[in-house]
Amino acid sequence: MLVFKTKKELLDHISILPKTNELGLVPTMGALHTGHVSLVQKAVNENQTVVVSIFVNPTQFDNKEDLAKYPHTFDADLELLSSVSEDILVFSPSADEVYDKKIKAKKYDFEGLDTVMEGAFRDDHFNGVGTIVEALLLLVKPNRAYFGEKDFQQLQIIRKLVKQQQIPVEIVGCPIVREPHGLAMSSRNERLSPELRQKGAFIYDTLLTAKEKFGMKSANYVIDWVKGQFKEQEKLELEYIEIADVETLSPITTKKENIKYRAFIAVYADGVRLIDNIAL
Ligand code: PAJ
Repeated sequence: MLVFKTKKELLDHISILPKTNELGLVPTMGALHTGHVSLVQKAVNENQTVVVSIFVNPTQFDNKEDLAKYPHTFDADLELLSSVSEDILVFSPSADEVYDKKIKAKKYDFEGLDTVMEGAFRDDHFNGVGTIVEALLLLVKPNRAYFGEKDFQQLQIIRKLVKQQQIPVEIVGCPIVREPHGLAMSSRNERLSPELRQKGAFIYDTLLTAKEKFGMKSANYVIDWVKGQFKEQEKLELEYIEIADVETLSPITTKKENIKYRAFIAVYADGVRLIDNIAL
């Protein structure tokens, strides 16, 4: 496994690869788990060369404490990656290296995709995500870049970003990987007590029932039903439940036949913020 700390080292290595090699990029913040591995595996299946970036991006954290608490498990990350392929190129730069010592987010206009849900609750978050993803895409110049539907809003914003900035890359969305009982995998799950981790399954169970109900009932009915379910839950505090058009992410008004919808949810479990979503 080759690990590169500087842009130059990475680019020097990429430049000696056969020009016909297709290149896949998987951006991550480390603390890797099976969800990340599914993206990496898909990238390895579809490209001759795969770069996985491991970089905890400071500009996407609105909360300094959250940034300070972010888990760093670099050795375990490398081990997990080598279980997929020894040929993966790992890019793990410092913040000064990636940002050329100007650690600041750019300002984007994502046409409303960034002002709802996660954007409404996390100030400037998507400007930070956009800045780092754009920088990585322009550096590595991959044919394909892989993102999880776990962060569906992020995925749609990145699709918008590459269109707006005219970056020639295919953005590949990958399905959500779940723990056996249904909780969406996340590095934050490690912070849950075993009891609460089990209880987290309630989030996905509720989404599944909401999906069933959405076939028969209005969106408002379903949203109220979900809110009611969480009122009865100790230790799980609902932050938002939204049903939105997958393209615009704007909240549903009246159900239309030719529009695809998803339900999006954010929940605090004993102070740990969990997000999930489901296609309806
Ligand atoms: P991170 O949270 O490390 O996630 C890296 C990628 O893994 C994202 O595309 C995310 O959607 C995907 N992922 C995480 N958990 C998943 C799961 N259970 N199933 C499927 N995919 C999953 O998202 C980020 O990092 C950052 O914002 C980043 C894009 C790297 C920019 O800093």
